[in-house]
Amino acid sequence: MDPTQLVDLDRYPIDQTDGAACQALITACRRDVETQSICTLPGFVRPDALEALQAEAQVLAPTACHMDNMRTPYGWMCNAGFEPDHPRSQVFRNRSGLVLSGEFPTNSSLESFYRWDQLTEFLRQVIGAKTLYNTACPHLSFNIGVEDEDGQFGWHFDTNDGCAISLLIQQPDEGGHFEYTPFIRSNEDENYAVISRVFAGESERVTRPEMAPGTLTVFRGHRSLHRVTPVGRTARPRLIGLFGYDQNPGMVYPESTIRDFTNPSSEPYLGLPA
Ligand SMILES: [Fe+2]
Repeated sequence: MDPTQLVDLDRYPIDQTDGAACQALITACRRDVETQSICTLPGFVRPDALEALQAEAQVLAPTACHMDNMRTPYGWMCNAGFEPDHPRSQVFRNRSGLVLSGEFPTNSSLESFYRWDQLTEFLRQVIGAKTLYNTACPHLSFNIGVEDEDGQFGWHFDTNDGCAISLLIQQPDEGGHFEYTPFIRSNEDENYAVISRVFAGESERVTRPEMAPGTLTVFRGHRSLHRVTPVGRTARPRLIGLFGYDQNPGMVYPESTIRDFTNPSSEPYLGLPA
């Protein structure tokens, strides 16, 4: 399906990024990312196109690579030497699947969405990047995250300070909700006391945005703790499109990153070695 048919251009006129309506949209999105760490665009994909994306994703879901392990929320740090009840000593479960880019058919609607230059230009302006390109990785350029029953992404911060771009395709019958705590940490203040309260389920800073399939999300997760709650009993998996961008053309992930998906370890990941 042509990307101009996928996106609701009446509501989100991203095919005219220089126009006043799109510039106002970009300004609002930037403000949301800067003040709340997230911008959600509900109904970004039109209902009839969403059905086509769901059908494509349902066919691809059985090809997903699966991982299931315990992980530190602080994956970019060395977390040795903390008391057992300290946030840096906690681990949370990741149980999910990922459809790699190479599994998609040549006429994929999701790929055409990802490769649409006007979507990239819109995102570039929202993110405030000088340049933005699709990655050239044959495996991790555009993907579908698949969470079946008991699928989940435990509490974590993203390793880098960039924006993650996703498109919710299908929500399960129970659970599988995205939750986040905007700007709960900074490089100057790790805010461990409040983070402990989040882990204990006692914090009012946890936000669960209303998110229906068809919603495009720009999220900045290096300072905002976030998770996907466990999927409960469901006849259908949670399906989410995940899109990789880089400020330089031709970016390819190292083999070790690909192996994390194709041949994942079941050992806990505790962060960088001491
Ligand atoms: Fe994340």
